[in-house]
Amino acid sequence: MKLLEEKILKEGIVLAGDILKVDGFINHQIDIPLMEALGRDMAEHFQGRGITKVMTIESSGIAPAVFTAKYLEVPLVVLKKQASKNLKTKVWQTEVVSYTKDISYDLTLARDYLTDGDHVLIVDDFLANGEAATGAVRLIRKAHATLAGVGVLIEKCFQPGREKLESQGIHVYAQARIRGLENGEIHF
Ligand code: G4P
Repeated sequence: MKLLEEKILKEGIVLAGDILKVDGFINHQIDIPLMEALGRDMAEHFQGRGITKVMTIESSGIAPAVFTAKYLEVPLVVLKKQASKNLKTKVWQTEVVSYTKDISYDLTLARDYLTDGDHVLIVDDFLANGEAATGAVRLIRKAHATLAGVGVLIEKCFQPGREKLESQGIHVYAQARIRGLENGEIHF
């Protein structure tokens, strides 16, 4: 999507270790009109597929997922990385290893918010190694719900996320696809 590519070129910063810093418009400060435009495009891409819920993983996926859910006119479910003490209901859980951040966490979802009749669209900010999305897919399967696809704002094509998902037959839509981040330059 041209709008997102232009914003990345203007404000994205390439850090060591092939990390693209997007703190100024996605992660730390959020550009609301941009998130709304991206959410609307995401919803248009997946329209007509019988989606009953949008799902994201806290925290950076929430902003685009809110607008995707708004335009699809369905609820948004946010997977927790830390199970709240207030979660007194039964939960689905799965462990996710984040290679980028070198940590692991238990992805948690209250069973009340996903049932076997749900058809789910996963929305996240980055697709890198695909570990977070794969964890979300595991939770969807545990709940006997079905998956409509995975939509991300930024795909790092030089990492194995897409391959990991597509090899399971999952439809992946990325709004900006980054081929490389060599010498501080961003190549789409
Ligand atoms: P995955 O997201 O595809 O599963 O890959 P990985 O496990 O390696 O990513 C771990 C975290 O690092 C994810 O955020 C992901 O969004 C983030 N990440 C990966 N590459 C980049 C990058 O180039 N730039 C930025 N800014 N983030 C990147 P998370 O742990 O889910 O954290 P949160 O920010 O959503 O809270």
